[in-house]
Amino acid sequence: MNDQQLIHFNKWFDAYVASYYGDDDYVNANLKLKEDHSRRVCDEMDYLAEQLDLPDNHRRTAHAIALLHDIARFPQFAEHRTYHDPRSINHCTLAVQILTENKILRPLAPTEREIILKAVEFHGAKEIPAGLDADTLLFCKLIRDADKLDIYRVMIENYRLHRDDPDSFYLEVELPDDPYYSPQVIDDILSERNVDYTRLKTWNDMKLINLAWIYDVNFIPTLKRIKQKRFLEQVLEFLPDTEDIRKIRQKVFACVDSRIAQGK
Ligand SMILES: [Fe+2]
Repeated sequence: MNDQQLIHFNKWFDAYVASYYGDDDYVNANLKLKEDHSRRVCDEMDYLAEQLDLPDNHRRTAHAIALLHDIARFPQFAEHRTYHDPRSINHCTLAVQILTENKILRPLAPTEREIILKAVEFHGAKEIPAGLDADTLLFCKLIRDADKLDIYRVMIENYRLHRDDPDSFYLEVELPDDPYYSPQVIDDILSERNVDYTRLKTWNDMKLINLAWIYDVNFIPTLKRIKQKRFLEQVLEFLPDTEDIRKIRQKVFACVDSRIAQGK
């Protein structure tokens, strides 16, 4: 991918996103959230690419993936008024469809096109599927890490807004904000198992999932960023102070520190 191609993707993204804004303030606010998110994921991707010392061509591909990974969020919210995939549409497969139908990736070499489509398709999968070639796997890992870094920021900001002024909270809340959490989610995290998202029952469960994401982080610079930005500490501020949560705190902090110390 050359610079001109990346500039073209940026222009296409701007026009595509702009076409979904309308008269509904609720829809516009939610679209803006994803538009800003997409751009910040580009920044996080640039940070990771720099830290991992990727060649320029890889950096541009990574940046394009970051820009385009959530492209389906715009039609998804405009049409269904939710970002909840099970209640609407799978935003990862829809993104592949949008990019293919709009022929946006057509100027690229077929291998590069395929890498971008796969990274977009698997960015939100529970796990990256086995059997991918090395380059595709690298970009799948990159987008999953860059996305998480910004989702931490977004989630923490939402928890804060909701706590400080629940009546004016205008963004979609998918789970009830009651004071409980699910013991099964605690067990999964303490055993370093992937938490089954269908088990989530409360907002506290979602906060616990945010902590469990560290098991799914692929690169040490991502963990360093999480530590530097104190994302785990900030999520923990919104969880109750119980013995379970204290165990979780100890577990996730120890995990981050040991991976950074080992460098893998
Ligand atoms: Fe995203």
